[in-house]
Amino acid sequence: MTDTPASTRPATLLPDAQTVTEVKHWTDRLFSFRVTRPQSLRFRSGEFVMIGLMGENGRPLLRAYSIASPAWDDELEFYSIKVPDGPLTSKLQHIQPGDQIILRPKPVGTLVHDALLPGKRLWLLATGTGFAPFASLLREPETWEKYDQVVMMHTCREVAELAYGQELVAKLREDELIGELIGDKLFYYPTTTREDFSHMGRVTDNLTSGKVFRDLGLEEGLTAERDRAMICGSLAFNVDVKAILEAAGLREGANSDPGHFVVEKAFVGDGI
Ligand SMILES: Cc1cc2nc3c(=O)[nH]c(=O)nc-3n(C[C@H](O)[C@H](O)[C@H](O)COP(=O)(O)OP(=O)(O)OC[C@H]3O[C@@H](n4cnc5c(N)ncnc54)[C@H](O)[C@@H]3O)c2cc1C
Ligand SMILES: NC(=O)c1ccc[n+]([C@@H]2O[C@H](COP(=O)([O-])OP(=O)(O)OC[C@H]3O[C@@H](n4cnc5c(N)ncnc54)[C@H](OP(=O)(O)O)[C@@H]3O)[C@@H](O)[C@H]2O)c1
Repeated sequence: MTDTPASTRPATLLPDAQTVTEVKHWTDRLFSFRVTRPQSLRFRSGEFVMIGLMGENGRPLLRAYSIASPAWDDELEFYSIKVPDGPLTSKLQHIQPGDQIILRPKPVGTLVHDALLPGKRLWLLATGTGFAPFASLLREPETWEKYDQVVMMHTCREVAELAYGQELVAKLREDELIGELIGDKLFYYPTTTREDFSHMGRVTDNLTSGKVFRDLGLEEGLTAERDRAMICGSLAFNVDVKAILEAAGLREGANSDPGHFVVEKAFVGDGI
């Protein structure tokens, strides 16, 4: 007998099954988890894969998920929302170590170094779970080798929603190997919009008002020569940030045509 939840049990029959090794709940609507990594899986930090569980109808129920761990990690990490009535996350939020999930080993995505032209200052701009691909890229040595400055702006409604990112950044700075690579290159700027915090405001407002530059002591303004950016949030966020970057003369890039910035949706839909 096993106490594995029924919803996760049938995945053991699939070749794409991976075993959950760790689960951490950050708030009542956010959690992260780690799973075993298929030996054959190669990916670029910042890419996403399809993961899921077996649905009630006996067919896999899959959703796109950014891999939050870096390409060198032995395991795979994911950072997830819990949508109360969400077909996948209403069940996925109950996984425990030892359970199995389905993982299709076909990584894709545009939030990768290859899609950006060389630059000096990299902006990682996220709302909510849009932090996930940057959790990978922040732990990727290439990020620190390629840029003189990396500015991580992450905005959530409430302070507790920043915790995953805050812990990750704190550990990164203390890490013997990557901490040395980072040196004084990392400028972390977490903000909230609906609860008091040391720094507040939307990413868009803090960029256009110049507040983020002043608060962090950065050279003001965005230029196509110096600045590169990766954007990951709701559709509205992505559209608004993209407009700011384009107004500064930056051009969107892609894997096939590297540019000054790249964009990926953190989720499809307008909100829960
Ligand atoms: C390229 C890509 C990468 C993604 N990476 C992640 C990731 O790393 N972590 C993650 O949690 N989700 C991620 N998502 C969203 C994910 O695919 C699912 O939508 C999410 O797991 C919810 O699944 P569900 O079946 O429970 O609900 P769904 O039916 O998929 O979603 C129901 C509604 O919930 C809202 N919603 C869904 N996901 C989110 C979210 N992440 N934040 C806020 N509101 C949301 C939307 O309004 C959506 O219409 C990604 C989506 C895309 C397109
Ligand atoms: N976060 C929660 O505590 C919470 C709790 C229960 C349910 N929900 C629901 O979950 C859904 C997703 O919520 P979420 O908080 O993850 O995502 P969200 O609504 O996209 O908000 C995340 C952050 O992005 C900011 N933002 C939104 N649109 C923006 C834009 N166009 N430009 C710049 N910044 C922008 C928000 O600022 P503003 O605050 O200024 O909009 C907020 O700080 C929503 O439908 C919500 O009703 C959220």
